[in-house]
Amino acid sequence: MHVVIINGSPRVQKYSNTEKIMAAFAKGLSEKGSTFETYAISDRKTWDIIRDAYIKNDEILIALPLYVECVPGLLLEFLETFPQKDEHTRLSFLLQSGFAEGCQLRCGEEFLAKLPEYLGVRYGGCLVKGGNFGIRFLGEEQQERVTKPYQAMGELFTEGDGFFREEAKKFTGPEYFPLPMRLMMGLIFKTLAKREFQKTAASLGCSVPLDEKVWET
Ligand SMILES: Cc1cc2nc3c(=O)[nH]c(=O)nc-3n(C[C@H](O)[C@H](O)[C@H](O)COP(=O)(O)O)c2cc1C
Repeated sequence: MHVVIINGSPRVQKYSNTEKIMAAFAKGLSEKGSTFETYAISDRKTWDIIRDAYIKNDEILIALPLYVECVPGLLLEFLETFPQKDEHTRLSFLLQSGFAEGCQLRCGEEFLAKLPEYLGVRYGGCLVKGGNFGIRFLGEEQQERVTKPYQAMGELFTEGDGFFREEAKKFTGPEYFPLPMRLMMGLIFKTLAKREFQKTAASLGCSVPLDEKVWET
């Protein structure tokens, strides 16, 4: 199998968490004898080349981060330039996010599931996993440890069933955290995290509270 993997994050490759995840996934593909080529949409100048790879290949995987509960605007803009193809092409997705509960990503997943039909191609499923906020801040060794599970998903993908197998569904992890944990996190976000966000905003020049209701003043 030869897979075209497209990084759908607007973030430049060097800092993109998706890029690190793709590397682990691609390692899994190689381990099982598949080949791949990778692209990133963050530099618009490469869009013609990526579209060409989409047209010429039939196994396409778009790896993307969740931005504001859904698909990054830049990726949508790029996808609008895709031509129609037929069912010989299979389009799969790897959707990853900051927050860890599976439920956070379901809206994005539903949206992505509709795209292949619009493009006339087959849907290969969507691998869904959160908990990835911090990857780019880790050292190389830790990054490898955190992204390693995606290697197994690359190996699984090579077997040909896209992301429809039970192993791929289980990969998401918990759909919701247990209630005590949710309550604790809610408290942290209302106190400690709120203070830290406010400090960060102030260091960037923000002079009003982050929850300021400007429409009421
Ligand atoms: C503008 C923006 C919006 C985001 N929105 C969400 C979100 O709605 N839910 C979530 O869980 N993570 C969200 N995140 C976190 C990213 O999904 C996460 O950090 C991801 O690993 C970033 O991948 P990238 O570095 O390849 O862009 C957001 C990040 C950014 C920059």
